[in-house]
Amino acid sequence: MLVILICGVRPNFMKIAPVMEALKKHTDFELLLVHTGQHYDDNLSKVFFEELGIPKPDINLGVGSGSHAWQAAEVMKKIEEIFIDRIPDLVIVVGDVNSTISCALTAKKLHIDVAHIEAGLRSHDRKMPEELNRIVVDHLSDYLFITSKKAGLNLFFEGIHGRNKVFFVGNVLIDTLLKNREKAEKSEILRTLNLEKQKYAVLTLHREGNVDLLDSLQKMTSILNAVQKKIDIVCPIHPRTMKKFKRNSIDVDFRLIYPLGYLDFINLMSNSKFVMTDSGGIQEETTVLGIPCLTLRDNTERPVTVTDGTNIVTFLDEKNILSNVDDILNGKFKTGKIPEKWDGKASERIAKILWDIYE
Ligand code: UD1
Repeated sequence: MLVILICGVRPNFMKIAPVMEALKKHTDFELLLVHTGQHYDDNLSKVFFEELGIPKPDINLGVGSGSHAWQAAEVMKKIEEIFIDRIPDLVIVVGDVNSTISCALTAKKLHIDVAHIEAGLRSHDRKMPEELNRIVVDHLSDYLFITSKKAGLNLFFEGIHGRNKVFFVGNVLIDTLLKNREKAEKSEILRTLNLEKQKYAVLTLHREGNVDLLDSLQKMTSILNAVQKKIDIVCPIHPRTMKKFKRNSIDVDFRLIYPLGYLDFINLMSNSKFVMTDSGGIQEETTVLGIPCLTLRDNTERPVTVTDGTNIVTFLDEKNILSNVDDILNGKFKTGKIPEKWDGKASERIAKILWDIYE
């Protein structure tokens, strides 16, 4: 039985790694890893394969960057040839990026089964390209693996349900975090960056909604410059954001560093006072690490990190952000608990379910 696993961007690699490892234990699954090439810089791609021990992709479509439609079309044209040539029994997609939707749609048009890992997340903000991707992929998929009961409810309200279709398995991103936590402790990144534990905050910023519109970007940087007056901020910068800073000649008072590898980044977060981010996965990782997280957005598709975890959605609201920063610095911020089934075993559950379905 041939299973094709799809990855394309940085956060996909941490999700695909434990799934591949778990599927490998069932020797009747022949696995083929396809990298779409949506992310291609070494520090957004290659480093994660090396650190997480993911086998080199069997095929790299080498698609690269472009507009949404261009990128999706390129992935679809190229992956269709692979699907027709190899005729997989199942295609596994993760997350909500352009590579995810393009491969899921192409597979279903060829009547190939699709499993979606991290299904059912909804920000209810249809201006986010990821939200559109999530909706379409979930409606196309045959098997949907969810990280929380709330995600199951979202699917139910859209008419997607069934004991043999939607499975609450936990979180594969957390499988990777728990597996690599000890290794990450050995990272020398604090020494390299000359940072002291708990004396800095980590920032990541790359969402289209935050960085592509000049107004939002200017407002965001002005708020972050105000936070910098209270605590040093370190920001591993995404190339999309760097380009916007340069193009618009935006000066920031906080420290920008190159994008980090997985182990260094986990170490950086674990030793920080708090994290500010617009990423999805980082909201989940901080919840498990017990580090306060301020999500610099108007919504989150991961509400379990707010109800159970250490996350707060701040909106682009200076007063709110600064008051939350004060709470953290004064030890008044909430603590959290680990969400149900985020126990490092999600990938094993997925492999077992797929094995039961296809054996
Ligand atoms: C993509 C995902 C986003 C995810 C993020 C993780 C979509 C719609 N967006 O956003 O959901 O959170 O990945 O990082 O799929 N670039 C480089 N080098 C690279 C890749 C990109 O310099 O290796 C630059 C290019 O200028 C490119 C821009 O970053 O145009 C954006 O890349 P793209 O893959 O389109 O979207 P991301 O912002 O990375």
